[in-house]
Amino acid sequence: MTPRILPATAEAIAEAGQQLAAGGLVAFPTETVYGLGANALDADAVARVYAAKGRPAWNPLIVHVATVEEAQQLAAAWPEVAARLAATFWPGPLSLILPRAAHVPAAVSGGGDTIALRMPAHPVALALVRAAGLPIAAPSANRFMALSPTTAQHVADGLGGAVVLILDGGPSTVGIESTVVDLTGTTPRVLRPGMISRATLARALGAPVGGDEATHADGVPRPSPGMVARHYAPRATLRVVAREAIVGEVRAALDAGAQVGVLLRTALPLAGATVVALPEDPDGFARALYGALHDLDAAGSTQVLVEAVPDEPAWDGIRDRLRRAGTA
Ligand code: TXA
Ligand code: MG
Repeated sequence: MTPRILPATAEAIAEAGQQLAAGGLVAFPTETVYGLGANALDADAVARVYAAKGRPAWNPLIVHVATVEEAQQLAAAWPEVAARLAATFWPGPLSLILPRAAHVPAAVSGGGDTIALRMPAHPVALALVRAAGLPIAAPSANRFMALSPTTAQHVADGLGGAVVLILDGGPSTVGIESTVVDLTGTTPRVLRPGMISRATLARALGAPVGGDEATHADGVPRPSPGMVARHYAPRATLRVVAREAIVGEVRAALDAGAQVGVLLRTALPLAGATVVALPEDPDGFARALYGALHDLDAAGSTQVLVEAVPDEPAWDGIRDRLRRAGTA
């Protein structure tokens, strides 16, 4: 069955809220990427999310709320760092890992004892949480390991019959998934970089924040279960290439018979390849990245070459996604 894509009017949001309250699934826009939502307090509904995505049960979901109070109720503890980060960055592209409150089904957390919480900045996402009257567990609305959707059409193309209702709130403006920061150890630690960088978090806290290479001071590594090496990937083979090497790499790929797509931040003449120009600034680049990769997949590219991006904190999330989308 093809899903219904509804413009996110008040009526459509009300209908979607009822679907969620009745245990159904709804895809909806957030400022980062589109999510596939279910009632976070209903273990059966949560199980349907895992099934729709083909996602392994050990990989926990992010729970979306509309107020800080709701978040506090879902966490078994709300330390000062959580209060500070929520006050500074919510609503926004930041997910906080905290101990999970006992009444939240363990299925949400992949069976673990923590929970990821986020207040999204998209008005439709917030209105949907309010309409449902429930916290919404929502991973990105794509099949496991595939590229995340930044439009309603991407969701329909990627999930097809697995989702019945898609709320269309326009293209996502942040464009890559939220920063995930673990607050359950002695030092906050970024598990998944995003557009709110580790450096920005540290500045807001006035204290150090660990990265995904770090372990806690207590010596216990806490890997984010979702950070499998190949992830966020288009169908094409993707490689990041230094600007000086692009002309030669494109020629070699064309000579080898590939359909070549290239993502560039500044123009280069590249005959024979499909070239997409992306903005030079990190915010603009992130906003356009997944859409460009979806387009190149749709155009039949078999090899995508991406011009290397700066080695600066503002690009951390983007470099992470390019690394995981790639094969090298
Ligand atoms: O921007 C986003 O975060 C989007 C939108 C829809 O909000 N959601 C999203 O969800 O990206 P998902 O499920 O595709 O990615 C969630 C990530 C995974 O890497 C998962 O392993 C990690 O967050 N995560 C979730 N709960 C966790 C937990 N309790 N402990 C550690 N990592 C967790
Ligand atoms: Mg995802």
